[in-house]
Amino acid sequence: MTNAQKWMSAFLVLFLVLFILSRFTMKEEVVHHAMNEGYSEQTAQQNPTELDGFTLIKQNGCITCHGQNLEGTNMAPAIAGMKEFWSRDKLINYLRNPSSYSGDKRFQEYKLKYKNIVMPSYGNLDVKDLGKMVDYLLTK
Ligand code: HEC
Repeated sequence: MTNAQKWMSAFLVLFLVLFILSRFTMKEEVVHHAMNEGYSEQTAQQNPTELDGFTLIKQNGCITCHGQNLEGTNMAPAIAGMKEFWSRDKLINYLRNPSSYSGDKRFQEYKLKYKNIVMPSYGNLDVKDLGKMVDYLLTK
């Protein structure tokens, strides 16, 4: 072998090694990626600051008037299965400003039935949280 040939084969071997190495690292990246995705999904579910709709409903005191299972009490009507009456957007707006909807027929009955109780407005709550509560009320 001449010197030039030696250099050529050395380069070839080096190239091959680099090529194989890069393949391995590529695979590892893909695996890592998949693992990270699974991980973040899990943490989102376990993250204590991300509360689900019903927990928020309990935490914000809705059950005090509407009942433990939202079945209604002598203070306020049942609020499960609100899909019949509300769209998502309208119900969010209602929670932020309940007095603006009191003209509906259903609400006239509520006025008589729950005379001295007023549905509080929840405009101070995070819209994201309102959305979660509303999703719960619509699907329950
Ligand atoms: C102080 C008692 C009280 C609390 C607390 C309360 N509500 Fe109400 N809610 C009422 C009353 C009373 C009505 C009946 C409507 C009216 O009188 O204006 C009502 C009506 C509603 C309605 C409309 C029902 C329908 O037939 O469309 C929804 C939805 C609702 N409340 C959801 C909630 C949610 C969600 C919370 C908690 C974030 C909550 N309420 C907290 C008293 C309360």
